[in-house]
Amino acid sequence: MSKTVFITGGSSGIGKAIGEYLLLNNFIVFGTSRNPKKYPNSKFTLLKLDINDLNSIKHFTNNIKKKKLRIDILINNAGVGITGPMEEIPILEMKKNFETNFFGPINLINSVLPIMRNQKKGLIINITSIAGYIGLPFRGIYSAGKGALELITESYRIELKQFGIKMTNIAPGDFSTRIAESRYHSPVSEDSPYKINYKSTLHLLNQHVNKGKNPLILGKLVHRIIKSNNPKIHYKIGAPVQKFSIILKRVLPDLIFEKMLMLFYKL
Ligand SMILES: NC(=O)c1ccc[n+]([C@@H]2O[C@H](COP(=O)([O-])OP(=O)(O)OC[C@H]3O[C@@H](n4cnc5c(N)ncnc54)[C@H](OP(=O)(O)O)[C@@H]3O)[C@@H](O)[C@H]2O)c1
Repeated sequence: MSKTVFITGGSSGIGKAIGEYLLLNNFIVFGTSRNPKKYPNSKFTLLKLDINDLNSIKHFTNNIKKKKLRIDILINNAGVGITGPMEEIPILEMKKNFETNFFGPINLINSVLPIMRNQKKGLIINITSIAGYIGLPFRGIYSAGKGALELITESYRIELKQFGIKMTNIAPGDFSTRIAESRYHSPVSEDSPYKINYKSTLHLLNQHVNKGKNPLILGKLVHRIIKSNNPKIHYKIGAPVQKFSIILKRVLPDLIFEKMLMLFYKL
């Protein structure tokens, strides 16, 4: 029997690519969007969901229950970027980013778990980021939110084992998507002491995303994870230099790693 997959943020980029790949491999795929009508050409059904809105999450899961659909796999993919100097990002914007990248996925997971518990089975895949392993300059809040999602996956995994529910993370490096366009960029004042460094880092950041890999390969990885009996806790996918940075951080003395990071960002 075909498995049913739900992907948050299926309208664009990584979520869209994963959905299209799984569709080709005979899965029943549902994606989500805050505005499904904007995507009439989506190859799979897009359901309305705003991960920041608890009522929207409740409505989404109630609909699944009403339609008696299974949730074999949930992919928490919806997410947004945020950049800026830690000192100058408005705290409200930091909280908003955490709503989408951290609390939203928790609310959705917790709303879906009773369904999976009933099924005595389920797999949840959280899309985090290689940025979640490193406190990146001018991306501190994004790094923190994704790193936090990586950590709570470890907690959930142990708590959920007794119910036959599995959870894992995929941390991508740079992939060519719409993420740079929809990112929140903190405004800095003309006389900001961070202006020059922030501008040059942002320039590099956009270059990296534009040169990013094709998100289709994430579809292949997700398929491999679904087929695996015992998914790993953390998966990393991206350019070798990005994956290697996590290993370097683990093995190098902190101060050497920090120096390398600053050289990489020309800071
Ligand atoms: N691209 C990269 O290089 C990269 C690297 C590491 C990790 N990631 C992560 O990968 C995931 C997908 O990003 P992407 O690169 O594919 O970006 P994208 O092209 O901008 O897609 C983001 C998706 O998230 C959805 N979304 C945003 N806010 C939402 C909200 N409040 N509620 C529900 N859905 C929301 C959007 O759907 P609607 O606008 O239609 O609602 C869209 O489908 C994110 O979690 C991102 O952090 C990306």
